[in-house]
Amino acid sequence: MDQQAIDKTSLPKHIAIIMDGNGRWAKERGQDRIYGHHEGVLSVREIVNVAGEIGIKYLTLYAFSTENWNRPKEEVAALMELLVATIRKEADELNKNNVRLHVIGDFAALPEVCQKEMNEAMGITANNTGLNLILALSYSAKWEILNAVKQISQNVQIGKLQPTDITDEIFHQYLSTHAFPDPELMIRTSGENRISNFLLYQLAYSELYFTATHWPDFRKKQFLQAILDYQQRERRFGMISEQIQTPQSENAKNQ
Ligand code: FPP
Repeated sequence: MDQQAIDKTSLPKHIAIIMDGNGRWAKERGQDRIYGHHEGVLSVREIVNVAGEIGIKYLTLYAFSTENWNRPKEEVAALMELLVATIRKEADELNKNNVRLHVIGDFAALPEVCQKEMNEAMGITANNTGLNLILALSYSAKWEILNAVKQISQNVQIGKLQPTDITDEIFHQYLSTHAFPDPELMIRTSGENRISNFLLYQLAYSELYFTATHWPDFRKKQFLQAILDYQQRERRFGMISEQIQTPQSENAKNQ
């Protein structure tokens, strides 16, 4: 599978990925889970490069969920260290490749050193115009939606917002992804067919792609395969097939 197989005119603008299976990948090799996370970073590197090369505009990676804080403390510490070390090492490379880094999630819950490293990398890459790499850290969709509801309620209470003003568009502005379009494609590796508290609002109409491949084995070939699979699907958004195949102007005339 090479890049030629992909139709560059119908790429998803935003791809979101649940990077699962690092632990199992390591276990299958008689190694500890941390080893799997280290190998997972190599996949992150490759997928970020390919996504940028083919012209994907937004890539969201679920790197650490709110629930992940409940893992053994050694693993949590190792994951945080790995994140810090990876960003420190890769920030210049991201910048060179015109990648802009963003973080979504409960930023204040991250260790200070992690916040500092992320802030620096976001600063360095702030003017880049290529791929937007969005790391979901200490993120969960329920946390995000509840936060949005709290802020909206406060604004209603002080009269800044009327309940009747709350449209999909307004609600979106209160989500941590307010600056990004919703993902057209969500990929989950490692054979689990779940959303696991990831972008619950934003994935309403996303195509879901599940693969048995563990994250450390998910590389360029597997990523392109997922995009190709997406391009072969018909996205109907609640309409019928004929409406999708008819050009927009024809649809308007027929209404
Ligand atoms: C899921 O595998 C993976 C994670 C919880 C962490 C993902 C982190 C990385 C790939 C490394 C750091 C990332 C960046 C962006 C630098 P799992 O541990 O749940 O695997 P299992 O389901 O087999 O136990």
